[in-house]
Amino acid sequence: MAFAKMTTRKVLEKKAAGEKIVTITSYDYAFAKLVDQSNIDLILVGDSLSMVVLGNKTTLQATMDDMIHHTTAVARGVTNALIVGDMPFLSYKVDIKDAVYNAGRFIQAGAEAVKIEGGTEVIPIINALIANDIPVMGHIGLTPQAVFKLGGNLVQGRTAEAAKKLIIDAKNLEKAGVFSIVLESIPWQIAKIITESLCIPTIGIGAGPYCDGQILVIHDMLGIFTDFKPKFLKYFANVGETIKQAMVDYRNEVENMTYPDPEHSYECPDDELAEIADWIQSTDIDREAKKCLEEKGVWI
Ligand code: KIV
Repeated sequence: MAFAKMTTRKVLEKKAAGEKIVTITSYDYAFAKLVDQSNIDLILVGDSLSMVVLGNKTTLQATMDDMIHHTTAVARGVTNALIVGDMPFLSYKVDIKDAVYNAGRFIQAGAEAVKIEGGTEVIPIINALIANDIPVMGHIGLTPQAVFKLGGNLVQGRTAEAAKKLIIDAKNLEKAGVFSIVLESIPWQIAKIITESLCIPTIGIGAGPYCDGQILVIHDMLGIFTDFKPKFLKYFANVGETIKQAMVDYRNEVENMTYPDPEHSYECPDDELAEIADWIQSTDIDREAKKCLEEKGVWI
């Protein structure tokens, strides 16, 4: 089935039409292609790859080179979904020129927008990116690149003061021109207030049902990455168990020689086999092998 190409403009139109925006992360060609074939609106090449693909404890270890490598692979598998590249730690807050250059690398790798974490304080960066024609997605609430400043991966916006700051940050990000904002790990009531106060869509992860869209980390929701399970995470499949069972079956079949069977093996024609058998009988294979080495000038 053919689906229409998603754009930042269409994402905004979906909010206006009251349609949900369905978003997921992907990090490679094979997953991205499956996601794209499933009519998902937006694929984030998230810095969560640091944890779920590369095995680090936080997102802080993801580098620009990691992100570009994976964005390129995702882009090869995607025709319809909007691809957003997640700017990693140290790639945008240190220097605005670096931010523009690094965001540009995402666009050259096949992303159509970038996501940056932070509230009102990142607006100068957003201004510079938009001035360079790079669409930006915001991200407030639990911002995992600030894990040490926040004191852990904790729910944000639970006090009136913290919630007011989130509401103001969201307003300012909208004014700065982001086309959507990820709301991560905040109470659903605060996410609802923010969503209703904006014309741009909110994309929730651990932010309740009233956001304009949802995002999950694909390895989490498929049950592939199970090192920890936040409250908001729902397993939509148990692919990890399916993979482990396939490995048990594979091992068993190799050990008892039921795999490969004739259906999964190549045949040699009978007349060729007869010639090979004659040759084996009439040939000193060690001497032939030595001769072959000498002829090619290769020494073992
Ligand atoms: O890196 C990521 O996957 C993200 C999403 C969880 C929003 O930032």
